[in-house]
Amino acid sequence: MGKLTGKVAFVTGAAMGNGEGIARALAREGAQVILADMSDKVFETAKNIESQGYKAFGVLMNVTKKEEVQAVAEKMLQQFGKIDILVNNAGISKSCKFLEVTDELRDLHFDVNIKGVWNCTQAILPNMIQQNYGKIINVSSVTGNVVVDPNMTAYATTKAAVHGFTKALAMEVASRNITVNSIMPGYILTPLVQRHPQAHLDAMASGIPMGRLGKIEEIGNLAAYLASDESSYITGTSIIIDGGSTLPETMVLGRE
Ligand SMILES: NC(=O)c1ccc[n+]([C@@H]2O[C@H](COP(=O)([O-])OP(=O)(O)OC[C@H]3O[C@@H](n4cnc5c(N)ncnc54)[C@H](O)[C@@H]3O)[C@@H](O)[C@H]2O)c1
Repeated sequence: MGKLTGKVAFVTGAAMGNGEGIARALAREGAQVILADMSDKVFETAKNIESQGYKAFGVLMNVTKKEEVQAVAEKMLQQFGKIDILVNNAGISKSCKFLEVTDELRDLHFDVNIKGVWNCTQAILPNMIQQNYGKIINVSSVTGNVVVDPNMTAYATTKAAVHGFTKALAMEVASRNITVNSIMPGYILTPLVQRHPQAHLDAMASGIPMGRLGKIEEIGNLAAYLASDESSYITGTSIIIDGGSTLPETMVLGRE
């Protein structure tokens, strides 16, 4: 029996990357996992998880479309009876110099990375309150909250906002037996990151104390822990998972 047996989980942006890693880990721990994504690759990912003997169901959904999110949540609640775990993972990142960021590009980041989290949580939280149980996990980032590279204003702003949202909501629902936490990944090898040239990926890895980028399975394992009752007293927290990439204080001291 896995630590999530009997639980129903809803994971956004689950067709690929971190969301896929999270969906796989939750399913492996026994949850019935609903994979929601705007890409129809979500059906293939769900089928693949099912073919390994786990419970997975794919559904098309764009987190920026509030009415669509409400309709999908209602349909899933009818089909599976409840949703115990919500993982707000869907997100985008496009780098651009601040003075060249158009309002459209800014709004795209705000719509997906902030309003998407907002929409899904508003659609699913009422069921959690009703059943007096819930686990909400937001995928934020070390970017904006701890570190940042140039040309990341839009992305960094949204990820820092998710941090604030996590704390504020955790406070509001703590008495309802609902925990709200966030995951702050460093660089993880997902399709989003694999777009970079190999030379950049190698250079990034060399700056990480553990000498490599993270794996989606590692994000999945952390999400499974936060989704389980093993983390029952943890709420309003953001956990860094970065192979130590945010640790170095200087690039020279102690390395002579
Ligand atoms: N990969 C990293 O290094 C890294 C680091 C820190 C944080 N993150 C965060 O992890 C999350 C996932 O990132 P990833 O690297 O797996 O990205 P990815 O691009 O590899 O996958 C993102 C998935 O989200 C889906 N998606 C995008 N917009 C959507 C929308 N409007 N509605 C529904 N689905 C949508 C995409 O179709 C895709 O399947 C994001 O929130 C990202 O900010 C990633």
